[in-house]
Amino acid sequence: NSDDKNELRSPICCIMGHVDTGKTKLLDYIRGTNVQEGEACGITQQIGVTYFPAENIRERTRELKADAKLNVPGLLVIDTPGHESFTNLRSRGSGLCEIAILVVDIMHGLEPQTIESLNLLKMRNTDFIVALNKVDRLYGWKTCRNAPIAKAMKQQSKQVQMLFNDRLIQIITQFKEQGLNTELYYKNKDRGDTFNIVPTSAISGEGIPDILLLLVQWTQKTMIERLTFSKEVECTVLEVKVIEGHGTTIDVVLVNGVLHEGDQIVVCGLQGPIVTTIRSLLTPHPMKELRVKGTYLHHKEIKAAQGIKIIAQGLEHAIAGTSLYVVGPDDDLEDVKNKTMEDMKSVMSRIDKSGEGVYVQASTLGSLEALLELLKTPVNIPVRGISIGPVHKKDVMKASVMLEKINEYATILAFDVKVTQEARELADELGVRIFTADSIYQLLEQFKAYINNLKE
Ligand code: GTP
Ligand code: MG
Ligand code: NA
Repeated sequence: NSDDKNELRSPICCIMGHVDTGKTKLLDYIRGTNVQEGEACGITQQIGVTYFPAENIRERTRELKADAKLNVPGLLVIDTPGHESFTNLRSRGSGLCEIAILVVDIMHGLEPQTIESLNLLKMRNTDFIVALNKVDRLYGWKTCRNAPIAKAMKQQSKQVQMLFNDRLIQIITQFKEQGLNTELYYKNKDRGDTFNIVPTSAISGEGIPDILLLLVQWTQKTMIERLTFSKEVECTVLEVKVIEGHGTTIDVVLVNGVLHEGDQIVVCGLQGPIVTTIRSLLTPHPMKELRVKGTYLHHKEIKAAQGIKIIAQGLEHAIAGTSLYVVGPDDDLEDVKNKTMEDMKSVMSRIDKSGEGVYVQASTLGSLEALLELLKTPVNIPVRGISIGPVHKKDVMKASVMLEKINEYATILAFDVKVTQEARELADELGVRIFTADSIYQLLEQFKAYINNLKE
């Protein structure tokens, strides 16, 4: 492979943290969009992907008078949900990124999903910046729109500065309890092992230039080791979506390499590997979210890193959370097909050999894995079958096999998927129970309550 050593790809930055700390709002502020207010209940439930061109970031950091020259094409930013049910999406997001922004609400300090996110980052040894968000909520805060944070801080009264310092010290102590050194970034000259804290407001923009500058400086420092462009395609399927006029499409994150229109690709499918050809490569406009409906840009080829919508035939049974492979001229198709199905091995091995157990269904491979893991302890609930996507009649048929054996296992545990009308009717007719919930924990609780009821 004759990879060009001087060519760099865009780094991937993941935004993580507890629910409602302001992750999406921070991105909205930088993009000049309003994604957060369009979310159901103001809660993020999907991974979001946005591309920020280098030019835009340079513009936003000008006031800091630092050398914000970017040698990468841009920055790909991944927004993750903070709600406790979406551990799988936080895990997937953090698995894709080179650097993260951990958002902490200055009024709340570290919260359960802050710590969960922190542990994911520690596990993968991912560098991160803490955004200490919602500084505008400190009583008496004087708005300094878009200002670098040190400048904004100087404008504050002694009282506000004291309030801020109290909270900052508390939060640094909470990080210390998690085994991490943190420090306000402009006091953290000799970084070493001390992580930077940047106070921010997603409402009035204080500290936003600082966050962007730190991201730029980080990329400059680590570019050569981590961001060298490779021709080897590294690509993850985020979502499988039906789009009017295009049929079933997949949203992917291209981490490295390049995709072309006409490339032969292999995707992990429920009924085996899917071999197909890329018909169109679409992206949203720069600074717009992939998950928000809008107009798309067509590309003949796209270089990493990017969030892309792929249009191709036969994607109906593609599985979110798995890897996509390109079949190169020197590749053996059978080898690529085998490699593609590797991702399914862990869930397949979870199916009970006895053929007895409940039927488990989820929207993505990641959520299915999370649900299967949850069903293991403290009491192992055996699983006889699995599926990804909506509950159809055939799933009810498969679950109904248990009716005559262990009746309580004639149950479908369905997370974040639709149940078709026909499936619902057949289940009622046969006596198969379908439990649905928006959270895997609620789902387990429902099933446990049902079992306990039977015992009484
Ligand atoms: P999830 O994705 O659901 O985990 O939440 P999130 O972290 O993306 O938070 P989101 O952007 O949805 O913001 C949550 C609430 O906090 C919204 O009502 C925002 O308007 C508000 N908010 C976010 N950032 C700030 C901030 O800097 N200052 C103030 N005052 N409010 C903020
Ligand atoms: Mg959000
Ligand atoms: Na929210």
